[in-house]
Amino acid sequence: MSLKLNVDPTRIPQHIAIIMDGNGRWAQEQGQDRLFGHFHGVQSVRDIVEGCSEIGVKYLTLYAFSTENWDRPEKEVTGLMELLVETIRKEVPILNKNNICMHAIGELTMLPPSARLALQEAIDMTAENTGLNLIIALSYSSRWELVHAVKKIAMDVKAGTMNPENINQETLQQYLSTSQFPDPELMIRTSGEYRISNFLLYQLAYAELYFTQTRWPEFRKENLYEAIVDFQNRERRFGKTSEQLGDALTKN
Ligand code: IPE
Ligand code: IPE
Ligand code: MG
Repeated sequence: MSLKLNVDPTRIPQHIAIIMDGNGRWAQEQGQDRLFGHFHGVQSVRDIVEGCSEIGVKYLTLYAFSTENWDRPEKEVTGLMELLVETIRKEVPILNKNNICMHAIGELTMLPPSARLALQEAIDMTAENTGLNLIIALSYSSRWELVHAVKKIAMDVKAGTMNPENINQETLQQYLSTSQFPDPELMIRTSGEYRISNFLLYQLAYAELYFTQTRWPEFRKENLYEAIVDFQNRERRFGKTSEQLGDALTKN
């Protein structure tokens, strides 16, 4: 029986963020090269994008490559970039068929020109779609994003278009690369690692964190439903007490 039946369709998180981890170890466990794991990870991406789209998730952010990942062996970085270009090109018609709008966040100027081009084409070709927003975090790190935001704010102050007195949480939010998206409510990390690895540090302030041992190449819709059911069983208090939440519920 599918766990989908246990998911409450009226309380689907509108934004899910995923650290897709464990490709390398999964491949090594099969006696294969790390790139074999990345290659198989693409099928999980397809399955999870489809799964999120089907149940009405509005935003899905996938951490595909971190700023720190540039320091991996050259062979792995080159292989990953080639896989990225090939996958994006192949997936655009499927994204369009499923009404999915693609976005990218990160220091994209660091990507090889072929990858940047493929990415920009996919973004442009899916821009009119109104279903799931698929946000790929590429060459992304949260500290890079925060430094970038602070620099832009400082420049606006210097140019006289911003008054430092008026800077508040919304201002900072507007300068982040995620300014168009609501904060994730659920963050999933696969492969049994219990850390954030420089991912959406500001935006995850009140996200529910879900960690699973499953390696990314084996993560499928059923694992996604399991994470959502877990999320739906939690009480999100946002600093308040349980009793206050009870009061709020009866008042509604
Ligand atoms: C995640 O899998 C994919 C990327 C970081 C690009 P890893 O490549 O980190 O796999 P492990 O963690 O070494 O198993
Ligand atoms: C985080 O995974 C980045 C991505 C999944 C893209 P890593 O495998 O790079 O993270 P660490 O090094 O284990 O923290
Ligand atoms: Mg890893």
